[in-house]
Amino acid sequence: MQTILIATDKPFAKVAVNGIREIVQNAGFELKLLEKYTSKEQLLDAVKDVDAIIVRSDILDEQVLHAAGKLKIAVRAGAGYDNIDLKAATEKGIVVMNTPGQNANAVAELAFGLMIFLNRNFYNGSSGVELRGKTLGIHAYGNIGRIVGLIAKGMGMDVYAFDPYRDKIVIENDGIKYVPDARELYSKCQYVSVNLPANKETKESINFDLLNLMPEGATLVNTARKEIVHEASLLKMFAERKDFRYITDVAPDCEAQIKTDYANRYYGTVKKQGAQTEEANINAGLAAARQIVNFLTKGDKTFQVN
Ligand code: 3PG
Repeated sequence: MQTILIATDKPFAKVAVNGIREIVQNAGFELKLLEKYTSKEQLLDAVKDVDAIIVRSDILDEQVLHAAGKLKIAVRAGAGYDNIDLKAATEKGIVVMNTPGQNANAVAELAFGLMIFLNRNFYNGSSGVELRGKTLGIHAYGNIGRIVGLIAKGMGMDVYAFDPYRDKIVIENDGIKYVPDARELYSKCQYVSVNLPANKETKESINFDLLNLMPEGATLVNTARKEIVHEASLLKMFAERKDFRYITDVAPDCEAQIKTDYANRYYGTVKKQGAQTEEANINAGLAAARQIVNFLTKGDKTFQVN
């Protein structure tokens, strides 16, 4: 019997695991579960005899992929697959997929949770500011960026978007103002939500030159990846721009320093929790299970990324 492993350091909600189990068992496969593991050895051991694996941000590097001698398919239940060594997977003939869009709403909602939390001074009872009437820039108009835009419009924000891979008409059809380049987006917007994937092109691309273009009240919202922000620039912005604020679901390596020096202008979640809702877990987890079953039974490679 073929075996499918869920390997999640950050577990799915129970209801999502039950749903995955049902899909897997109905298709005649066995489900194995490795949650909250504390060492790489546990992961190396768990992948040994499995045919398929479902992960979240769990690292599938060359060593793990090599340890998984029978592995045919790895599905990242989520959007970003920068945690999987695609080259090593391809060399081993392993199909890698993601589940685009399935957790996008959860991430987009968190962006607003973070903005309001900061604007209301961490709910400390003092007088804060509102989002209505402020300019919001969406940096990358994918599944998350689009929902961020729709929510922002509902909140009465003035919304702009930049995405080199999206046609102007797609953005304008959603009633969002299209901006042709990143510099213009940052120049126009008091709030910028970054929704970029982490790759060679985007790594450290949010730098001082770009951030410093932002008008008074500059607030960067990062629910994407810490790697896309250039950390020396972040520290320079905090030091040189007394109005600059940063809220993130992916804490930078220099977080301790920011917390010490600029505590009232920064908030970072304790653990990445953008996609940590029951709904997102169900959507992404069940999609991953279905994609695996369709691949193993019919060879369906929809959503393959390598
Ligand atoms: C994603 O890329 O889908 C999000 O960053 C969510 O990641 P997570 O599954 O580790 O919460």
